Parts: sequence; structure tokens; C-alpha cells
Amino acid sequence: MLSWQRTAFHFQPQKNWMNDPNGPVFYKGWYHLFYQYNPNGAIWGDIVWGHAVSKDLIHWYHLPLAMVADQWYDIMGVWTGSATILSDGKLMMLYTGSTNESVQVQNLAYPADPSDPLLIKWVKYPGNPVLVPPPGIGAKDFRDPTTAWLTSEGKWRIAIGSRINRTGITFVYDTKDFINYELLRGVLHGVPNTGMWECVDFYPVSTTGEHGLDTSHNGPGVKHVVKASMDDDRHDYYAIGTYHEKNVTWVPDNPEIDVGIGIRYDYGLFYASKTFYDQNKKRRVLWGWIGESDSEIADVKKGWASLQGIPRTVALDTKTGSNLLQWPVEEVDSLRLTSKEFEKIELKPGSVMPLDVGSATQLDIVAEFELDKAALEKTAESNVEFSCSSSEGSAERGALGPFGLLVLADDSLSEQTPVYFYIAKGKDGSLKTYFCTDQSRSSEANDVNKSKYGSFVPVLEGEKFSMRVLVDHSIVEGFAQGGRTTITSRVYPTKAIYGAARVFLFNNATGASVTSSLKAWQMNSAFIRPYPDDDDER
Ligand code: FRU
Repeated sequence: MLSWQRTAFHFQPQKNWMNDPNGPVFYKGWYHLFYQYNPNGAIWGDIVWGHAVSKDLIHWYHLPLAMVADQWYDIMGVWTGSATILSDGKLMMLYTGSTNESVQVQNLAYPADPSDPLLIKWVKYPGNPVLVPPPGIGAKDFRDPTTAWLTSEGKWRIAIGSRINRTGITFVYDTKDFINYELLRGVLHGVPNTGMWECVDFYPVSTTGEHGLDTSHNGPGVKHVVKASMDDDRHDYYAIGTYHEKNVTWVPDNPEIDVGIGIRYDYGLFYASKTFYDQNKKRRVLWGWIGESDSEIADVKKGWASLQGIPRTVALDTKTGSNLLQWPVEEVDSLRLTSKEFEKIELKPGSVMPLDVGSATQLDIVAEFELDKAALEKTAESNVEFSCSSSEGSAERGALGPFGLLVLADDSLSEQTPVYFYIAKGKDGSLKTYFCTDQSRSSEANDVNKSKYGSFVPVLEGEKFSMRVLVDHSIVEGFAQGGRTTITSRVYPTKAIYGAARVFLFNNATGASVTSSLKAWQMNSAFIRPYPDDDDER
């Protein structure tokens, strides 16, 4: 029997371990997701490429393994890589192999039959590896090639993460044929004291609209994002800046929020992410690996570990100009079933209110909150030093927060996962808003992570506090202010499961009432199953 922690609309293999999303691409009508997979157990090791396809990024068919560790140059693992669609529609896959001597090299693979929309069979280029670590670089510090983008000269350019001592860097190579490469002088970017950069991503965003841009797009109205996964602290950091094609460098808009020292895609569990340009819907889609936060023993017992987060569209926030907006792909809305709506519920200071939303393990909740204006004005300085992680969590009582939702809660609230806002007010009257998730009471089990997550979220003049929360058995994904700040957590309630799970509104502020309006949808399960042998079902 499958454990209750299995999710209903998140991508996960039928069993065993999964980590990074690899080579996501839209090809001949299908979305492809490859992923780091251990076919032999629920912990990391023996890594090969799992493969699944979908028509809508939500319902998936599992396909046979795309690549296994069968060559000297990837025998210790078929590691992370990215897809590039060439101008003539051909597909190139670059991935890292861990060699028989555990050296990290880059390899090329391509579909055996490009006319097969399912891309079942892959051929590894016989001349692999195509790249080895540059002189002076550690054999184990050279991995995870990006999707290639075109230079104005018509060459393809890729970035690969590495480090020099404690400085995380990205090497850049040009190639005409994906076989021969030229290492360019210098690095695209580097940041001292950030350690090894894994799974680097590099892509353009439009400064004028929400539509996504193809990876090769450049010119006026474009900024570029650099993202790296920090092996040291296991978080994905991005920064927005300017790409100088000729000098082969990228410069962050704000050096204080550079890669690895500034903002993150997500303040919970979210790692080794990768975007791709979806030419089908003209958007950029972000995949992130969501690990477990229970014990390895528990993972082995349940026979599986990890999910992929709900894919997110990602675009520049044109209102702030300083962060991205991440939002669940619109196809998720197709899983919405019945809904309950609540209008202008007043929450007095210190109150908790149950919401009758029906069954509460598979939900999509959109909620808005307004603080009592008079109380807001009356409040003098409050909690300017607040931080989600070092606070008392949702039990902290400030003048203007916390307030928000309790999800995966049981009737007695002995288990609950609060997702909430907390407002700090400066001496000058300025407000600073935080978006947090508190796992400290999420489970009565004692072998699970119970930390508090969260960060600052920009709230502009005239905006209400708004959040969207997706709940799926053992995962809670929170998106604040249209996706300016996001938090993903894995939680493992023991009582708030199946029919016993509830949702509450709460306001733990001491000095202000909060009014909330919200809508909660029951979410259908998505099918995620082996590809049918029967052609009719295609
Ligand atoms: C990131 C990572 C990559 C590597 C892969 C191995 O989680 O360590 O750098 O290619 O996973 O599974």
C-alpha cells in the first residue's frame, strides 16, 4: 500500500529516489521531463535518467529510462543536463557524466529517432566526453551544462558551474556543432564565498511583459537572470542583471543581491531547479526538485523520496523590477473541483477560525488579507528586527502579525502548518512584510524537519496582502503577492491526514484586526502512470 505522504498532483516516480529535473523541453506536442533517478533504492546513488511525458505539465506518463550508466565516461552516474532545440528543430542534450575515476565530464546525447515525439531512445555521441575540466579546476567541480543560446555570430554558447577555492563561478564555452568547444576567457560570473555552483541557469526575461523569452533572445527590453544552486547551503539563488555578449560577462543590477548572497527562488525546500522556454505557450517554465525533510530511514521504509514542485511560470516582476514572479502553470487550474468562498471574514487579535472547505489534503487556496487601518496607523515602531526563521513562528505575537492560514491541521490544532504574513513597522512609519511557513507544529513525528521558513516580500502601495497555497498531502507550496516570494515545505502530519485534515484562518497580532476573503478549491488527482501500450490512449 502506498503511504499517505504520496502526493496526488505532483510529479514523482512510482518508487525510489529522484533528484534534479533534467532537460525539460517541449518537443512535437509533448512536454518532456527527465530527472535524476536511482532505480535501486530510495536514497541518492546509481544515478540514471528517468523520463516522463505530458500534454499539460500536470498529467504524466512514465517512460523507460532515457539513459543509464553504461559508458566509462558516465559509469559513476548520468548526472544533470539540459536540452537545446537547434534552429532546424533537432534536439541536443548535454549532460554531466561521472567517469570511472569520478571525474566530471560533459557528454552529448541525442534522440535515436527524432521523429518519435516520445523520444524513447537516446544515443550517446561516440566521441564522448566532449568537455573535461579545464586545467586547474577540480575533477569534481565541473558540472551541469545549461541549455545553449545563440550568439550574434551564430555560435551556440553554454555555461557550466564550477568553483575556484570558495568562489562559485560559471565557465562559458562556444560551439558550432556541440562536439568541439572553445573555452572563453574569464567567467560569465563569479561570487566569492559562495562555494560550488551547481545547476547554473541563464535566461532572458522581458522588461515589458509577462511573456517568456526563448533562451537565445537578446536585445532591447531584455534582462538576464543567473541562477545557481549552492552546494554549500542547498538553496537556489538568482539575480537579475545585464548580459554583455561581447565581453562574455553578466553584471547584476544590484551587487547586494548578487547570486548566492541575495534572493532565492524559494525560502523552503527547492533545489537544483531548471527553466525551459515553452514555445507552445510562449512562457518560461521553472522546475524545482523538492526533497524530503523526514529521515533517510523513513524514506527507505516508504520506498521513495522526493517530488518535483508544481512547474511555475517565471517572469520579471515589472512592478518592482527587482524580483521575478513565479506562479503555478495555468494548467494546474484544470484540477480545481468544487470551491468554497468566504467573504470579508473579520479576525480579531488572537483568533483562530475553522473554515469548512470539505476534505483538506488536496487544495488550492487563494486568500487576501487587509489590516485594520486605524490600528495600523496607531501602532508605533514594531519588530523591525523580525526574521521568519529565528522568530517564534506563528506563535510570535507582534502588533501587526502574524496572520494567515493554518493548513494540514487537525481539529485540536495539535498539528498545523501555518502559512502567514508578518508586518514590521519602522520608526518612519514604513512597513516591511514577511511571508513565512512554520513547520514547528506540523507533525507529532520527531524525525522530521521543523524549521521555520520565509523572507521579506515586497507589498506595493494599495496592494492587499495576498497568498496562494497549494496543499497536496505532504507538500505545501505558498506564493505571496503574485509570486514575489515563495515557500515550499514538506510536512508529515500524523493526525491531520485524509478526512481529518482541516484549514483555519488565524490572526495572532496583538494590535490589529484582519479581514480576509478567500476561495478554496478541492483539487483533483492527476494521473501519473506508465505510458499505455494501447495506441488508442495516445
Ligand atoms: C544537484 C546535483 C548536480 C549533479 C546531480 C547528481 O543536486 O548534485 O550537481 O549533476 O545532482 O545527481
